[in-house]
Amino acid sequence: MSRDNQPEIERILFTEEQIEERIREVAAEISERYRGRTLKLIGVLKGSVFFLTALARRIEVPVTIDFLAISSFSNKSGAPGVVRIAKDLDDSIENEDVLLVEDIVDTGFTLRYLLQTLASRNPNSIAVCTFLDRHSSRIVQVPVEFRCFEIPDRFVIGFGLDYNQLYRNLGCVAVMKPDRT
Ligand code: IMP
Ligand code: MG
Repeated sequence: MSRDNQPEIERILFTEEQIEERIREVAAEISERYRGRTLKLIGVLKGSVFFLTALARRIEVPVTIDFLAISSFSNKSGAPGVVRIAKDLDDSIENEDVLLVEDIVDTGFTLRYLLQTLASRNPNSIAVCTFLDRHSSRIVQVPVEFRCFEIPDRFVIGFGLDYNQLYRNLGCVAVMKPDRT
């Protein structure tokens, strides 16, 4: 889907070309870091699918791919942070070098939960690669080894990121108009 005729968009943050170029750079960093090893990419459904497939094509070490899905809830006081696995991985990660691939790290609650859960399954190593990082919203500190872009404190859509499940198939990343969110 192209960005033309999308009235919800306030401005483009990253074009398709910028995204492609940055993914190449990050994939090169990852290939360097894991040289001589096989890497298991774990995607968090559904947002990371677009990023994961683009990244995987540029990584130059052997990779396997698995997915999990999570649901997050607000607790009674409305605070975020309650996360559970809605669809688990197909395969064991024991002794594997795992790269958890995220669409965006925001408060950090989702990532903290996933890292704790996956670490308990005895991987050889576990690291995080996120497409977007909104560091200004972080509530819990989580380690992020690889990131494509830092973003401002605005709601974004495209390249996997949704608003009410829509706009994931936008090729660029865009800021939504405030009255639309
Ligand atoms: P957190 O780091 O636990 O706060 O959760 C991050 C999750 O919130 C992501 O995986 C997205 O599904 C969602 N999210 C956060 N910010 C945005 C945004 O700007 N656009 C779309 N989804 C977002
Ligand atoms: Mg989402």
